[in-house]
Amino acid sequence: MADLIIYGATGYTGRLASGFAKSYNLQFTVAGRSENKLKALAATLDVEYRVFAVDDPLAVDAGLHGARVLLNCSGPFLHTAEPLIEACIRNGIHYLDIAAELDSYQLSEKKHEEARQANVMLLPGCGGSVAMLGCLTQYIIENVANPVSIDIALHIAGPMSRGSAISAAENLTSKCLRRLDGKLVDQDRGQNMDFDFDDGRGAVSCFPSTLPDVIAIWRSTNIPNIRTFVHAAGNALPTGNIDSMAEGPTAKQREANPYHVAATVTASDGSITRAVLHTVNGYTFTPLASVEATRRVLMGEMQAGFQTPSNLFGYRFVAVIAGTAFRDL
Ligand SMILES: NC(=O)c1ccc[n+]([C@@H]2O[C@H](COP(=O)([O-])OP(=O)(O)OC[C@H]3O[C@@H](n4cnc5c(N)ncnc54)[C@H](OP(=O)(O)O)[C@@H]3O)[C@@H](O)[C@H]2O)c1
Repeated sequence: MADLIIYGATGYTGRLASGFAKSYNLQFTVAGRSENKLKALAATLDVEYRVFAVDDPLAVDAGLHGARVLLNCSGPFLHTAEPLIEACIRNGIHYLDIAAELDSYQLSEKKHEEARQANVMLLPGCGGSVAMLGCLTQYIIENVANPVSIDIALHIAGPMSRGSAISAAENLTSKCLRRLDGKLVDQDRGQNMDFDFDDGRGAVSCFPSTLPDVIAIWRSTNIPNIRTFVHAAGNALPTGNIDSMAEGPTAKQREANPYHVAATVTASDGSITRAVLHTVNGYTFTPLASVEATRRVLMGEMQAGFQTPSNLFGYRFVAVIAGTAFRDL
């Protein structure tokens, strides 16, 4: 039995992550609920597989037996994060996922003390947008004395995966949230904000969107005021029937559609600092960064309880992904 289990390995992102894990020479087992898909994937990768659904705690415990680290790629996380986080705490296994919705983060906040006592790390969003936004935030505040607010925007481009669209539709909250004086409160959906992504187009309008960074950035930095925005270029937001969407962007589409993150930090003296993170498409970044995070955890980089990638690894973590760079504005 390998130390690492990749659960949800048969999905679009899970398959990419499993492929990268193989190319990193990690020893791992693929897992999920669909035996036929797992059997085929395991044969392609020449790894073992385990079949278990998340709704039976005994089956989950048996499925995770012998592992040290779980990378959960099975979204919507609304259905999978809680049973897998609980099983990881019961069994002394570090929990990592790639969630872009709030569920895993709220659960990780709630389970922090229990996980800490079990010496288990909860690292939701170990790759993906949370690593991008968190690392840009840490990069900026390194040179800001007493930051009091951050406005941060994710520029997405190219088609979304079908799984992302399903997860977004099933998100825990239909509310739009921001953090104000340390508390999560409603954010006005109509209050767009302009950001310059340093891509030659100047300032573009971004719409308010509840990204998990309203929890993750608060956790990492204690900045009491956080607003999160999205700019969706071209066909980045799905329209029409989700079931008829392609499973995810092709390699060509990923290559043609890099992501960017822009942030504005205000300090207590009113001074403003802006910077941008240029990076690759989210569906390239997420499997690569999550496997890199997993590799580091397997090598012993861990802290018990709820952690964020930027706090655990530092902001330079994102720089391991080729094509990623910070720029001060
Ligand atoms: N943070 C980021 O920036 C980022 C980037 C990429 C993806 N994501 C997130 O990652 C998740 C997966 O995306 P994807 O495009 O890979 O989706 P996908 O292709 O639909 O794959 C989903 C995987 O999860 C499994 N699954 C779904 N519900 C399950 C359940 N209730 N119990 C057990 N397994 C379940 C599926 O198993 P079956 O094959 O058996 O159906 C499949 O293996 C989404 O939530 C997406 O938002 C986040």
